[in-house]
Amino acid sequence: YYHVLGAKQFEKSELERLFDAALEMEKVVAKGGDRRHEGRIMTTLFFEASTRTRLSFESAMHRLGGGVIGTENAAQFSSAIKGETLEDTIRIVSGYSDIIVMRHTDIGAAKRAAKVASIPVINAGDGAGEHPTQALLDAYTIRKEFGKIDGLQIAMVGDLAYGRTVHSLSYILANYQDVMVHYISPDNVRIPDNVKKYMDEKGIRYAETNDLDSVAGSIDVLYQTRIQKERFPSVEEYEKASGQYIVDAELMSRMSKHAIVLHPLPRAGEIAEEVDEDPRAAYFRQAVNGLYIRMALIDKCIVESKAN
Ligand code: CP
Repeated sequence: YYHVLGAKQFEKSELERLFDAALEMEKVVAKGGDRRHEGRIMTTLFFEASTRTRLSFESAMHRLGGGVIGTENAAQFSSAIKGETLEDTIRIVSGYSDIIVMRHTDIGAAKRAAKVASIPVINAGDGAGEHPTQALLDAYTIRKEFGKIDGLQIAMVGDLAYGRTVHSLSYILANYQDVMVHYISPDNVRIPDNVKKYMDEKGIRYAETNDLDSVAGSIDVLYQTRIQKERFPSVEEYEKASGQYIVDAELMSRMSKHAIVLHPLPRAGEIAEEVDEDPRAAYFRQAVNGLYIRMALIDKCIVESKAN
């Protein structure tokens, strides 16, 4: 089966094919969708809250003619609350549907699911681990906005320890030439060593700092993130990290005219609403791109799994 478990699984040629497919999906949506996956069913198993990922996946399956099943909140309303293991849940759901999209609290949960699934599994976020489909839509957005990814300077800002999207986005960017990544964070939520090790292995330039002002004028992409309050071991640690980087009109005035601001969303005050009207604020365009990328991923998972 073709699963989407982590961002390292994507090589450049596959990324480019996926982005082309997502562009085709934009045309499919403009036509009102098609019926290519009529009769197929996608299960959404979300053990953590979600607006964008879950609803864009569900919309994507509907746009392709398929159906969707899922409990409202898998942690509370699936039989996990009665003690059923993740593995048994996946075995059962494999018999009811054709593809599983899963978000879970535990790092590695999607890989565990894929080991016992008899249908494709897509990782929609595994704790503080990865969020590969978000990174794919982030990279797709950068490519659409700039016409390229090679050669760009990208600043990832905020909670780089618990923010799973920056881990996956780093792995995706590692496929591109002459990219420079600036990791900008409070000291207690720095980018993890395993991500830096991967970037080193791939020969990708990066720098770490806690000074956003020093790079604001020279970057192409400012990728802001939320401080992941729910993942901190204590309130004190969260408070050390929170409120340090706010993207506001004053910061925007010091950024390049061609730069863009991205954010996986939801935001919790780290981008002021006054920024929303700035054409460089690309985060709502970014969220829409999630629909096209997820249509392309669902299609790929189903088509490539059939071929096996
Ligand atoms: N970006 C993202 O994963 O958003 P949700 O948590 O709303 O799905």
